[in-house]
Amino acid sequence: MKLRDKVVLITGASEGIGRALAIELAEEKSKLVLLARNEERLSELTSELKSYTDVTYQKCDVRNPDNVKDSIEKAIKTFGRIDVAVLNAGIGYRMKVIDFDYERTKKIYDTNLYGALFFFEYLIPIFKEQKSGMIVGVSSMADVRGFPGSAAYCSSKSALTTFLESSRVELSRYNIKVITVRPGFVDTNMIKNNKFKMRFVLDVKNAANKILRGIEREKKLIQFPFIYVLLTSLVKFLPVHIFDFLSAKHD
Ligand SMILES: NC(=O)c1ccc[n+]([C@@H]2O[C@H](COP(=O)([O-])OP(=O)(O)OC[C@H]3O[C@@H](n4cnc5c(N)ncnc54)[C@H](OP(=O)(O)O)[C@@H]3O)[C@@H](O)[C@H]2O)c1
Repeated sequence: MKLRDKVVLITGASEGIGRALAIELAEEKSKLVLLARNEERLSELTSELKSYTDVTYQKCDVRNPDNVKDSIEKAIKTFGRIDVAVLNAGIGYRMKVIDFDYERTKKIYDTNLYGALFFFEYLIPIFKEQKSGMIVGVSSMADVRGFPGSAAYCSSKSALTTFLESSRVELSRYNIKVITVRPGFVDTNMIKNNKFKMRFVLDVKNAANKILRGIEREKKLIQFPFIYVLLTSLVKFLPVHIFDFLSAKHD
């Protein structure tokens, strides 16, 4: 898919991967709808990108279905259609199950899982009417197993990945494409507080570029870097006692 002149909505566009994607897409002359909670950052980015393309922003908390509905309606009012929705907003922090906290866990699920699914509710009727559309869901390689210290994050991402997979198969007959993005570590605020040693961390521009090229090629699955694709494929099939032994070392 050529992205020039396509209307692309991005959630979590104020920082990190979403912001970097917005910059790359502006250079490709896509028309942009930028969503996040931090209005100041969105406004700054919008001003920066205005010289490249048509861009608009809206304050939107993806955990709030009314906010999501409003943002989509405003995007349609502005541009008349939405071609691609990049559902990228996400949060992650480490939390041990021994210190289980329902509110913090719910916040992760509400953002990473329902914060994407609310968009399905409002976008699918629009995409059906347009007879085309693309949903790009940003999941994570952490979807592969339940790593210690990240039960809420890993499970929110594995639910998202599984939901995206069913959707991809079901929606293809309506010409609605679904792409799953599974990044490894990317150098953004999200990973700044990780205490464990991270290897093969990608810079955010590079990560955004890989996502963009994957969208253009309409890949079903965009995952990077290759070393983590390989490692997580192995980890997925490790017998439980070996998985427990190895992961307990990093607990
Ligand atoms: N960085 C990594 O290593 C990595 C690896 C795998 C997957 N990912 C995934 O990539 C995505 C982007 O992460 P990132 O690394 O770019 O993180 P980031 O730099 O922390 O940015 C997160 C973005 O999500 C937005 N956001 C958070 N809660 C939101 C809410 N309730 N409503 C609307 N927007 C919200 C934030 O904007 P506001 O605060 O302004 O709302 C921000 O723009 C996430 O889904 C993450 O799980 C990241």
